[in-house]
Amino acid sequence: MFNPNTSLKRIIFLINFLPFLFSCNADQNGKNLKNDFYMNEKHRPQFHFSPEAHWMNDPNGMVFFEGEYHLFYQHYPDSTIWGPMHWGHAVSSDLIHWEHLPIAIYPDSLGYIFSGSAVYDENNTSGLGANGTGPLIAIFTHHDVNQEKAGSTTFQYQSMAFSNDKGRSWEKYEGNPVLPNPGIKNFRDPKVMWYEPEKKWIMTLAADDRIKFYSSSDFKSWEETGEFGAEHGGHGGVWECPDLFPMPVEETGETKWVLLVSINPGGPNGGSAAQYFVGDFDGKKFTLDVGFAPHVTLGNAKWVDHGKDNYAGVTWSNISKEDGRRLFIGWMSNWLYAQVVPTEVWRSANTLPRNLTLHYAANQFELRSNPVKELVSLEGEIKKLEPGLYEGEKTLSAFANHPLQKIALKFKNPTSGSIVLRLSNSKNEYIDFGYNSDSTSYFVDRSKAGDSTFSNDFAGKHTALASYTKNEIDMLIYLDVSSLELFADSGRTVMTQIFFPSEPFNQLTIIEGSNSIELIEGTTTDLTRIWPDKADAAH
Ligand code: FRU
Repeated sequence: MFNPNTSLKRIIFLINFLPFLFSCNADQNGKNLKNDFYMNEKHRPQFHFSPEAHWMNDPNGMVFFEGEYHLFYQHYPDSTIWGPMHWGHAVSSDLIHWEHLPIAIYPDSLGYIFSGSAVYDENNTSGLGANGTGPLIAIFTHHDVNQEKAGSTTFQYQSMAFSNDKGRSWEKYEGNPVLPNPGIKNFRDPKVMWYEPEKKWIMTLAADDRIKFYSSSDFKSWEETGEFGAEHGGHGGVWECPDLFPMPVEETGETKWVLLVSINPGGPNGGSAAQYFVGDFDGKKFTLDVGFAPHVTLGNAKWVDHGKDNYAGVTWSNISKEDGRRLFIGWMSNWLYAQVVPTEVWRSANTLPRNLTLHYAANQFELRSNPVKELVSLEGEIKKLEPGLYEGEKTLSAFANHPLQKIALKFKNPTSGSIVLRLSNSKNEYIDFGYNSDSTSYFVDRSKAGDSTFSNDFAGKHTALASYTKNEIDMLIYLDVSSLELFADSGRTVMTQIFFPSEPFNQLTIIEGSNSIELIEGTTTDLTRIWPDKADAAH
């Protein structure tokens, strides 16, 4: 996380940003609340969650409670770079439109507030509820920076806070930490779930190069029950932000357990990314499915997302049985360059919320991600693209002043060569994406997509091997002002990529491939932004 260029960057940032601060009536936090058009600065995502101002990294503590989806996040409210971590907070009734709330959890004498999770303690097992109802409990890592500087290896431990007012105020538990450090340097990011068969809480925790499991009946004392991973999966970096949950396998109806593990670095296209494992959990330990194991031998990983910008993602707790979805959101950046991307007021956004499903196809388990159905509420005019054979370069659609788009394309799989689509603006900046039938892989190329001077790790063509081949190539794309999310083949291959053009992309072109390309069907759909125009309406 530490970047030696940071001080220089901070000075450059201040020189650039100070005049802006004085010119627009910023409040004491630097938020531009008097701006006539709220959340609309250059590069500001228009239908993705981002903090009003300053630094954000991992999504934390996602819990659904009494009609509200809570989203907390790693936040440093004094700068646009990483610093003493707080939990920022927002709520939504539809996963799409967010209301920013005050900071939920502040650092204290035990340390910064690192990543973690939140649950509804319905049976008041913790005894921390009030008026006959159980509390919401947030469990997080306390990171003691003083101990870290002093050279200790036990500076991360797990603590909790609780709320009895729908998450509006949080009290730290007086007995913190609830899980002290046993001598493991990276010991963090607790994800807790209720394990109904044994009526106990299970904590999944990242510990250096593996995941450890703990259980508790009261949330206050935790016992280690097992560990997983030292011999499996990607190990190009430290393991972080795990999640463990059961899922029905759509084709067979059986239940399997999915373990998500973020890793930094070591991602498929460099830097940070999230991998997954499929197996069984007996209340104590996770065992890989025998059929899945060959895909995740030491050094091999299955990725939740092959793009460079989906990290530290985990899922919501307490989703109702009737809903039954496994809802996921990730941090749409990468530690390689997150702190230097060219945004001024805030830094980083989240991915779209996604519905995860588990499948058994081509003799293996496969996790698929698709954007949540609630996004339909943003949809406006739908334009049909002309089906048929395309040769040479042709504009498929021009969005004019409407750069927020959902693009759905179905092509015939070419026998050789590539399908290359281009999203461009009038400044001759563009991002290419598509499918290469020779290498059976999807790609997103952001080499010419605008500003990339801030990091040598940013520009480039990134690829994802398709998990299988078939006669039709399906691509669903969500295009925001500074991000593209490609969900290929019904969510089997996903790529999330950010970019910083000098003006939004507003034209879709098909680029000459080696052969003619057949578009079977395609649409572009205008999307609306999620923020009210005035800041006041958002609070
Ligand atoms: C992942 C991470 C977590 C940690 C947090 C600190 O991006 O490094 O492991 O809790 O960020 O902000």
